[in-house]
Amino acid sequence: MGNSAQQVLASRTLAPRTLEPRNPGNIFAKEFSRDTIFLDRNMITPHFTPRKLLFRDKYIGEISGLLSSTLHGKKPDNIFIYGKVGTGKTSVAKLVMQQLLEFASAKNIPIEGNYVNCRNHNSKYRILSKIVKDFFPEEDFIGYSAAFIYEKLLEYARGTGNNPHKTWDARSVKGVPGPGSGSVGMGAKGNSSAAAGEWAGGIATAAGRQVVLVLDEIDKVKDLDELVYGLTRGNDELGNGSGSAGITIIGISNNLLFKDRLDPRTKSSLCEHEMVFPPYNAQELTDILKQRAELAFKPGTVEESAIALAAAIAAQESGDARTAVMLLLKAGEIADRRGGMDGCMVTDREVMKAKVQVEEELVYSMISTLPEQQQLVLYSIATLSLNRKPVQKITGEIEEGILFSGEVYDEYCRIAKKHKETVVSSRWYREYISELEMYGLIYTTASGKGIKGQTTLIKLGFEAEKIKGVIERGLVEAH
Ligand SMILES: Nc1ncnc2c1ncn2[C@@H]1O[C@H](COP(=O)(O)OP(=O)(O)O)[C@@H](O)[C@H]1O
Ligand SMILES: [Mg+2]
Repeated sequence: MGNSAQQVLASRTLAPRTLEPRNPGNIFAKEFSRDTIFLDRNMITPHFTPRKLLFRDKYIGEISGLLSSTLHGKKPDNIFIYGKVGTGKTSVAKLVMQQLLEFASAKNIPIEGNYVNCRNHNSKYRILSKIVKDFFPEEDFIGYSAAFIYEKLLEYARGTGNNPHKTWDARSVKGVPGPGSGSVGMGAKGNSSAAAGEWAGGIATAAGRQVVLVLDEIDKVKDLDELVYGLTRGNDELGNGSGSAGITIIGISNNLLFKDRLDPRTKSSLCEHEMVFPPYNAQELTDILKQRAELAFKPGTVEESAIALAAAIAAQESGDARTAVMLLLKAGEIADRRGGMDGCMVTDREVMKAKVQVEEELVYSMISTLPEQQQLVLYSIATLSLNRKPVQKITGEIEEGILFSGEVYDEYCRIAKKHKETVVSSRWYREYISELEMYGLIYTTASGKGIKGQTTLIKLGFEAEKIKGVIERGLVEAH
């Protein structure tokens, strides 16, 4: 047997043993001890709200000035805050509420707050149930009538409920609970067997409480007129008593057109005091990002020009602090994935890569949170666009996927019926079209006078295939 044959044999017999790792260790050990450029990644997520909000002192002052009357047992005006996504509306409202409740609690003043994200609780019944459940955590309200739940809220404001409970969790201001769960019970556990007047938590009062409700994304409420009317009437009832009970609404909306659609009575009640948050400019976003980068990244791991670039991109697109924060977070993750070793930094290159990812995510998250009927309209546009042959214009230019408004409506009717959804009238359909355009998901233009007469032409803003996919996934989950 030659030398090499012996080697082969030897290696055969040895093979199983050499494959046996000497000291395998835990597969997560390497990952765990891996160096990272993050100091605290949580600080650069959009859920985190810093305790100091830059460039919003004016609004913080205005809101806290109004709400301060609750400290004297008087109901303030309702407040309506609107402005584009990422202009700090939610953060400002949560921050002011947190401070109000902290202060009231220290001074034993009966004020309560509750935060509701109306995207998750989108009807009067759901909203009131959520609030009352938070105020009376030990009681079960499932199956109770709207009237009962409404009475329960008034009872709570009057201070006659038997199970008061602190409901605004200061932690929620930092955004620890998930979306829509802004308030989590805290403080002493409620004791449902306690007799009236024996307070198990919260601040007891015979004269009533000032209750402040933050209704975020209030435009998502289907029966908003009824909700606002109900709460206004509730205040009249509370006002007839001798106490100092009151219910105040802070309504928040990203939708700039929403206010004009309201019933005049709802509008005057909800918008007693209104304010518009403007978008941030590039310099402001730079400062906001610098503040975050200091908290979230290890020193020297983020280039200044990368921060300026992320701020400039966000300012140009929308003046949206959420996009700016997301860009820096993603850029950080991209840099970190390369190993987070010495010399690994967030530079312009990572920000540019992050831009592509963030844009896609924003579009898809926007689509998946649209009301179902609008999703169906968008779905119809995507479906028709996919079947449409590109048109060659007289100029020789190729134009893709241009649709007539009428054919989209027909397709929408067909799809809505197929999904056993109600079919909205063409008037509502036109509303949806203008909203989809406002979100930048589609473009529309008037056709000019042609064979079909004056009509609206519609074009999808993003890739039809992808949009269709996102909606299909959502619709499957919903049914
Ligand atoms: N003035 C600010 N200073 C620091 N961070 C801000 C500021 N405004 C917004 N942000 C951050 O931007 C993100 C989006 O803000 P948010 O309050 O949710 O906006 P909106 O409710 O208007 O959509 C959050 O991460 C928030 O912490
Ligand atoms: Mg918000």
